[in-house]
Amino acid sequence: MQILVTGGAGFIGSNLVDALVDEGHEVVVVDNLSSGKRENLNPAARFYELDICDPMLEEVFRKEKIDYVNHHAAQIDVRHSVADPVDDARANILGLLNLLENCRKYGVKGVVFASSGGVVYGEPTKLPAAEKFPKGPQSPYGVSKLTSEFYLAYYAGVMNLPYIALRYANVYGPRQDPHGEAGVVAIFGQKMLRGETPVIYGDGEQVRDYVYVGDVVRANLLALKRLQEGGISCGSGGCAINDFAYNIGTGEGTSVNRLFELLKEITGFTGEPEYGPERKGELRKIYLDVGKAKAELGWEPEVELREGLRRTVEYLAG
Ligand SMILES: NC(=O)c1ccc[n+]([C@@H]2O[C@H](COP(=O)([O-])OP(=O)(O)OC[C@H]3O[C@@H](n4cnc5c(N)ncnc54)[C@H](O)[C@@H]3O)[C@@H](O)[C@H]2O)c1
Repeated sequence: MQILVTGGAGFIGSNLVDALVDEGHEVVVVDNLSSGKRENLNPAARFYELDICDPMLEEVFRKEKIDYVNHHAAQIDVRHSVADPVDDARANILGLLNLLENCRKYGVKGVVFASSGGVVYGEPTKLPAAEKFPKGPQSPYGVSKLTSEFYLAYYAGVMNLPYIALRYANVYGPRQDPHGEAGVVAIFGQKMLRGETPVIYGDGEQVRDYVYVGDVVRANLLALKRLQEGGISCGSGGCAINDFAYNIGTGEGTSVNRLFELLKEITGFTGEPEYGPERKGELRKIYLDVGKAKAELGWEPEVELREGLRRTVEYLAG
């Protein structure tokens, strides 16, 4: 089977490409290397250095016989999306549309989309947040992820293009980008290994759901399997965004203070954190209900936080 992974030179995308290659799939990668790295590229994958907004993307679909698309390319920096919402929408919305139009034209059988459970719900009034909870993105990045899900539901309902949206919690692990939603792990880990003091913004009691990249990769493989098995079709009223969306997290919340303590133990750092001013617009508390992914995809997180952090620190230490 031939799979196109957009963003396959990035953190999550490259870990996924490695797993797909190991499973014996033919993999094509499209990435503009804006945050991805050439050294992350799996040599067995065919690589196109290309922006997903580029009209030349059609050449990739013309040349390769793509069965499934796994869409990980995106502008991922929440603060950049606030500073330049047009640039965020260009990559995350127009890029998605360029991709979906090619999927439609070239008969792609299904799409897996990397959405974000960390941003689409806003500040939930009840925890853990389940897929059907009200949506309330609080940044242009969150709006672009949620908008993408609406476009996918439209293409599924009207154009018959099946999809699964995986709403990730805060993903951490080897090759992690410090600008991503779980950037704090890479930033703290790197600083502590150098003996430098990390800064905690606010009181450190902000709570997030940290999920290990290996578990996220497994969720993608199961989503692909589910698409292959078929049966993903919309009712006569079309698709709703929650129908084929799955939270991918651990179901557990961890505060920044707790994360600091765990990383301190693992790195052997001896100092205390420095506290800085609270960051405006930051959510207070979110973690995800992952029961739907367990029931319908057969997916559960397997790597416990301490072990995942240990593997990440080992990677950061080189
Ligand atoms: N890391 C997280 O915690 C997290 C959480 C929720 C959702 N996600 C989503 O998962 C996906 C992967 O995130 P990541 O953390 O691996 O980030 P990343 O920055 O490491 O990966 C994104 C990749 O996409 C490429 N890219 C960006 N814009 C592009 C464009 N216009 N054309 C072609 N390639 C482009 C980058 O070069 C990079 O290789 C993103 O869609 C992100 O929104 C990540």
